[in-house]
Amino acid sequence: MRLVVTLVFLIALVAVPLSVSAEQAKTIDELAAMYNVDACADCHEDIHKDWKDSWHSKSLTDSRVIRTWRTFILNGLDKDGMPRAALKDTCLGCHAPQIKDAAPEVSVKIAELILVAADDPDASKKEAAVNELSKLNVNCIICHNLKATPDGNPQAKTIYGPKGNVDAGPHKEQLGFETAKSDYLKQAKFCSECHHGCSPGMTAERCPTLWFAYNEHYLTHGGNKTCQDCHMDAKDYGMSHKFPGIMEVDFAKTGIDLTLNASATEYLYHLDNKIVPAVIVNVQVKNTAGHGIPHG
Ligand code: HEC
Ligand code: HEC
Ligand code: HEC
Ligand code: HEC
Ligand code: HEC
Repeated sequence: MRLVVTLVFLIALVAVPLSVSAEQAKTIDELAAMYNVDACADCHEDIHKDWKDSWHSKSLTDSRVIRTWRTFILNGLDKDGMPRAALKDTCLGCHAPQIKDAAPEVSVKIAELILVAADDPDASKKEAAVNELSKLNVNCIICHNLKATPDGNPQAKTIYGPKGNVDAGPHKEQLGFETAKSDYLKQAKFCSECHHGCSPGMTAERCPTLWFAYNEHYLTHGGNKTCQDCHMDAKDYGMSHKFPGIMEVDFAKTGIDLTLNASATEYLYHLDNKIVPAVIVNVQVKNTAGHGIPHG
């Protein structure tokens, strides 16, 4: 009996790494293919366009990201003698969570491309590196599958939506995907999967994130909107997937209520013994966003 158990254990030891590595993408192209969302555009054209214009679709190619990651790779990982594959567990977990399905060499390749995109003197090489990096980002499948359940354990080949819409038959017919309901997608907590990131037990003083500000200030002062209510509000069609933030001026303006009251007066200027005209300005500023502004 013991021999059988030992044998089963040994087989399991051999089988597990094999089956895991069989699912692991070896190149950026393989990983991008596993998370391809081109087909979504066929039926959700407006949403796809909004998302394309959003920061979520540029989560590896935003020039702030490229330059900061370059510094982190050279001055953090390389200097501390850490392998560049560690990018998987440090930055990519939120900026390209699909990395969980890739072999370590993909993270090493991403690090290489970041350095070229940031510093290569040859503009065409820079551009080619950015194009390669643009294949990975926070896309439809990341939010509507990978991060869509609170236990982090979504069903494969399933599109989670806020309604679990029965009309989404084409998902099955055309893509072979089920459609399931996820209430989690409508909760602010869903966004904190990436917009928080503090280790458990850390306080707001040590790790001042938007999520802390939202919970400890906005909600406790009577705020009742979710992140989605403000950031996905779209008048024209369905949910806006543009996710405007601080860079979108018209949206940013909605985060501040400014009242200016000016009235004319005059005062006695003591050095010259003269009456001079003056203005009294009464300024009232109210933060109407769901967290500190600016918060970045
Ligand atoms: C817990 C998730 C998470 C991790 C881990 C993470 N990021 Fe981010 N990062 C975000 C989110 C969310 C934003 C957008 C937040 C915003 O604009 O307020 C962001 C924005 C950025 C920006 C652009 C905004 C800015 O402040 O300039 C840079 C640069 C950046 N991250 C670099 C990094 C680097 C380097 C690492 C690894 C050391 C990293 N990130 C790890 C979630 C994460
Ligand atoms: C950053 C996360 C995120 C990304 C990326 C994302 N979505 Fe969504 N999407 C959501 C959330 C959250 C909701 C639900 C909002 C609610 O109901 O409060 C939603 C709702 C939807 C809905 C339902 C709309 C409605 O009016 O009820 C559709 C359809 C949809 N998404 C399609 C897509 C497609 C297609 C893509 C890629 C082009 C995409 N999403 C990318 C987070 C995301
Ligand atoms: C062949 C057409 C078609 C394709 C391709 C397609 N969808 Fe849909 N999808 C629909 C229809 C129809 C609905 C139901 C009506 C609606 O909500 O727009 C729907 C609904 C949804 C919803 C909302 C589900 C809910 O809870 O109500 C989400 C999320 C979604 N699709 C995401 C995606 C993603 C992500 C892709 C790409 C991987 C995709 N769809 C590809 C046709 C399609
Ligand atoms: C899988 C991780 C992930 C999830 C889930 C996610 N985001 Fe993000 N979000 C990011 C990253 C990474 C960036 C930074 C992209 C960049 O600038 O390079 C970002 C950028 C943004 C920005 C633009 C920030 C700016 O600087 O103006 C807004 C707004 C935003 N997210 C809102 C949301 C909201 C609201 C939700 C929930 C419905 C959400 N996000 C869910 C990862 C995520
Ligand atoms: C009552 C509306 C409202 C709610 C609720 C809200 N936001 Fe915002 N958010 C805004 C406005 C307005 C801005 C732009 C002003 C600014 O950033 O200074 C903004 C800016 C941002 C930015 C851009 C960069 C920054 O750091 O300032 C991110 C990222 C973001 N919000 C994420 C979230 C997340 C995640 C939640 C939920 C935990 C949330 N927001 C809840 C209105 C809201």
